[in-house]
Amino acid sequence: MATRTIHILLIILLTTPLSPSSSQSTDDSFISMLITQSGLDFLKQILVTNAIASLTPLQLPQIQKTLKIPFLGQIHVVLSNITIYHVDVPFSYINPGDTGIAIVGSATSNLSMNWHYSYGTWLVPIEISDSGLASVLVEGMEIGATLSLKIQEGVIDISLLEGGCFVKEIIIKLDGGASWLYQGMVDAFQGQIASAVENAIANNLEEGVLKLETFLGGLPKEIPVDDIASLNVTLVNDPLISNNSIGFEINGLFTKNEKGKVSTVFHKNSQSLVSCIDSPKMLGISLDEAVFNSASALYYNAELWTVDTLPDQAMLNTAWWRFLIPQLYRKYPNDDMNLNISLSAPPVVQISPHGISATVYADLIVDVMEGRDIVPVLCISLVIRGSGSVKVVKNNLAGSLQLDDFTMEQKWSQIGKLHMYLIQPIVWTLIETVCLPYANSRLGKGFPLPIIHGFTLQNAEIVFSDSAVSVCSDVTFTDSYNLRSLGYLNKLTQKL
Ligand SMILES: *[C@@H]1O[C@H](CO)[C@@H](O)[C@H](O)[C@H]1NC(C)=O
Ligand SMILES: *[C@@H]1O[C@H](CO)[C@@H](O)[C@H](O)[C@H]1NC(C)=O
Ligand SMILES: *[C@@H]1O[C@H](CO)[C@@H](O)[C@H](O)[C@H]1NC(C)=O
Ligand SMILES: *[C@@H]1O[C@H](CO)[C@@H](O)[C@H](O)[C@H]1NC(C)=O
Ligand SMILES: *[C@@H]1O[C@H](CO)[C@@H](O)[C@H](O)[C@H]1NC(C)=O
Repeated sequence: MATRTIHILLIILLTTPLSPSSSQSTDDSFISMLITQSGLDFLKQILVTNAIASLTPLQLPQIQKTLKIPFLGQIHVVLSNITIYHVDVPFSYINPGDTGIAIVGSATSNLSMNWHYSYGTWLVPIEISDSGLASVLVEGMEIGATLSLKIQEGVIDISLLEGGCFVKEIIIKLDGGASWLYQGMVDAFQGQIASAVENAIANNLEEGVLKLETFLGGLPKEIPVDDIASLNVTLVNDPLISNNSIGFEINGLFTKNEKGKVSTVFHKNSQSLVSCIDSPKMLGISLDEAVFNSASALYYNAELWTVDTLPDQAMLNTAWWRFLIPQLYRKYPNDDMNLNISLSAPPVVQISPHGISATVYADLIVDVMEGRDIVPVLCISLVIRGSGSVKVVKNNLAGSLQLDDFTMEQKWSQIGKLHMYLIQPIVWTLIETVCLPYANSRLGKGFPLPIIHGFTLQNAEIVFSDSAVSVCSDVTFTDSYNLRSLGYLNKLTQKL
């Protein structure tokens, strides 16, 4: 019965035209993720090999029956220790649709079992019995599941809508036994063995999906980046399911590690529709420029930075500056100095089809050490414009910045007005040799993209669009630890 349902279901799934997803975005999402057809095929392969294969060895309940055999009369036959010890799925496919995501595989499988019969007739009053082994080959087995995919409280909620197994043909091979027994078995038990297999697989499918649900439900909603920030990977809105892709929307903003939130409110600029839709890659991840600006808002509050390694250490004494800023040397001859650099506003990141750029607002404060006193004497405000490059390192999005130009202005001074043009080349050198390497050493580490542990990006490409950057990439499955740890592959590993 269940088998007929799935057949009908498959036909419906394969023929129902898909209407465009009716779900409308309600929550802002700044990272979106698209699993393309090739990504779905890859996921399906992992699910099928890990899930269906891990069903085995599978014990079926014993079957018994009384057969009526000509001349011999009533014979009691028991099949016990019926074990499916191998399921092979040479062909499978995945089909996302409005009514759910259908995964169908055609399989063959091998069973072993013990047989035992006994009878007694009025001719021979003693009981006659025999026993042996039999192997059963299950052919044309079709295993199918339709899963519903929803977002519930920020995580993926997957459940089994329909699932089942249909056995087309079984071939029984007895080890020993009489030919009448063979025929009797085929006639009487074929249907029962088939439905026992169908039920066992269907039940295990249900169990497997439950475990998958637990696993997905337990995925974190935040990915820690460092001791300051985390990436909010809470899923929002419904998944966007089309006939050849599944899309997810993720909050995607940086948040403080402690309870506090970023006070800035961000608005989505673009549709942030993943640019990888026509890419042959498995996965596309689009990041709105707000993701970067939320990071910059968060790190902006960071500490003041004292420059302590300079291209020329002598620069940290007023004597070095005597021709460039004579009044500094006059007022504080031969005093040691401090250079403090701090951001005066969060850096602003902009993304266009040509690339990514950043504007950094910083204050450069010059302190003079007068004996034990630190005297701030001068503040120069800087507006630095740079262009960035982005690359994928493992599962991180990393970047680097290069200086395009900058402007400088005297903010305040204890030593009168400065000639900016005199010190501009020095400041340029400072930015190039001190500030940028510092920033790039941080940007070079990057931040983690929302990828489930065990999967690794491979051959990633970067695509810039209006106010978003997309990573189009293939993935490899490097580590089955996560799936195994939830007992999903336990059976398989026990077997190995
Ligand atoms: C049951 O079947 C399995 C697998 O074929 C076999 O290893 C085991 O010995 C059998 N047990 C009994 C009691 O026959
Ligand atoms: C099942 O067993 C038969 C005979 O032992 C063998 O030829 C066949 O390859 C097996 N099939 C699978 C799927 O293991
Ligand atoms: C998906 O639907 C579009 C039109 O809606 C169609 O052109 C395309 O062939 C379909 N793809 C698959 C894999 O069914
Ligand atoms: C993370 O994003 C979700 C969904 O947008 C939001 O409800 C939640 O408050 C965010 N968490 C933090 C810590 O900002
Ligand atoms: C500059 O940095 C030093 C060392 O961290 C600190 O003592 C000093 O107060 C800072 N100067 C200003 C103006 O903040």
